[in-house]
Amino acid sequence: MIALQSELSAIAGAAFAAEGLSESFGQVQRSDRPDLAQFQCNGALAAAKAAKQNPRAIATKVAERLKANPLFAKIEIAGPGFINLDLTDAALAERGVTLSKDERLGAPATGEGKAMVIDFGGPNVAKPMHVGHIRSSVIGDSLQRLFRANGWAVTSDIHLGDWGLQMGQLISEIEHRGIAPVYFDANFTGPYPEQSPVTMDDLEEIYPAASAACKADEARLAEARQATAELQAGRPGYRALWQHFFNVSKVGLDREFGSLGIHFDLWKGEASVDPITVPMVEDLKARKIAVESEGALVIPVERNSDKKEMPPLILVKQDGAVLYGTTDLATIIDRVREQNPDLILYVVDQRQHLHFEQVFRAAEKAGIAGKAALEHAGFGTMNGTDGKPFKTRAGGVMKLFDLIAMVTAEAEKRLAEQGIGADYPPEERADIAKKVGIATLKFADLSNYRLTDYVFDLERFSKFEGKTGPYLQYAAVRIKSILRRAAEQGFATGAPAIHSPEERTLFLQLLALPDAMAAAEKGRAPNILCDYAFTLAQNYSRFYSEHHILSESDAALRAARLGLCAVTLAVLTKVLGLLGIEVPERM
Ligand code: ARG
Repeated sequence: MIALQSELSAIAGAAFAAEGLSESFGQVQRSDRPDLAQFQCNGALAAAKAAKQNPRAIATKVAERLKANPLFAKIEIAGPGFINLDLTDAALAERGVTLSKDERLGAPATGEGKAMVIDFGGPNVAKPMHVGHIRSSVIGDSLQRLFRANGWAVTSDIHLGDWGLQMGQLISEIEHRGIAPVYFDANFTGPYPEQSPVTMDDLEEIYPAASAACKADEARLAEARQATAELQAGRPGYRALWQHFFNVSKVGLDREFGSLGIHFDLWKGEASVDPITVPMVEDLKARKIAVESEGALVIPVERNSDKKEMPPLILVKQDGAVLYGTTDLATIIDRVREQNPDLILYVVDQRQHLHFEQVFRAAEKAGIAGKAALEHAGFGTMNGTDGKPFKTRAGGVMKLFDLIAMVTAEAEKRLAEQGIGADYPPEERADIAKKVGIATLKFADLSNYRLTDYVFDLERFSKFEGKTGPYLQYAAVRIKSILRRAAEQGFATGAPAIHSPEERTLFLQLLALPDAMAAAEKGRAPNILCDYAFTLAQNYSRFYSEHHILSESDAALRAARLGLCAVTLAVLTKVLGLLGIEVPERM
């Protein structure tokens, strides 16, 4: 089915075209003044400028043409030449019924025939995930769900940080501690033990110690650098240790992401492109794209138009180690080979913007991106109520695991306050608390435009009132319960219909779903879906408080209202699903 705004824009566009003006002036949007009209078209103003005519005169001519269309109940010209439009209830109802029957609920097919790779999450092996990774995961997961729903062939990749200095730091720390001498024995010919010499907990303790040692002592840092270079050059004992770090980290990460309902198609990382790095570097050298600079190999990426300094991308350091930019460049080659995507989207902290600018420019210079557009969808920081980056109470870096425990505990408290689930089995209550906790976290993170820093105020975002995840879950659960009771009483559900202003408003919002999904895709902006879901829940709540549903004695009216409840639930569940939020069966 075609999105309502697109349908109306095409009709208005044709009217402009019939007046000898560009179709593009026919863009129709929801009205800024819902009290005056449902939709508006402002194209006459721009058309007037282009054609050097009077805007009201153009609006009048276009409006005359639109009046011939039975779709419209009201067409008015306002102000200097805005065209205000209302649809007939019959037209709205017909489209609402079509939407309710559509399996995809009218999701736009913007991605049809297109493939994308989405790079998000990006935790670093052996280092605990911090809030930046959490934001990347929550926003990235929502975007992968949205793009998929819009018809894109999506491949998500966690792109683990597993090839940098932290690996050399770990290795040299382990050598110092003498934990696993066999991996450092140059005469050992293998095979190395299958059992990891360290657990995830060990790594969490060893990494900060290693990093502190390197900060305090130049010699230790040099050792770590040396170990990194040797690892990358293929020293067998170091590679074997690396594999253990990777394996134990993956188990832990899988569990954490799983509990958030976040899944990746690929668990590749910086190290996975190691085999193609040397050939890439050789090729870039041969083509003179990479050049020698102070002992390092770099790709200059500055342009005449640059207003700020644009340092070159460093491919290989003096000591032979490759860097973050090198692996990112090789990863583009890998993705183009494997997926040949139309788009590679990087959901990464905005503070890495310069890095991506360098990588994208280098990729363009090298001509390695195929048909892929390369795009960085950055995000700002999640702050605590003190306005500083979110920390634990003790002032440490907030780990994902602790954050989930914190939001779940808060949800338990709120549920108890509301008296929800007091008589449910404990497992069900725990499951609800977990879902509510995760909704609290995800909605808080997604409801702000991604680039704006925001304050994670647990108190506010865990409430069952206001623009919060729990409020929306609760709204959906209430509709479920009405439908369940209707079924118990043997009430039929019919096609949704419009008999009142509240029903009309609700229909208009339901029909705006495809437009919201398209707009959210365009802006890589899940906050548009959050706004959409919140307005929908409010529109529903007004409908609910103004009408009898189960207590309606007119069977046809009751069936139509139950039908409206059902489609509202389907749409709300779908949008929450795009945000990665699950709706419990009951609350
Ligand atoms: N591991 C990186 C970090 O912790 C994020 C990786 C983002 N993705 C990428 N292709 N560079 O900052």
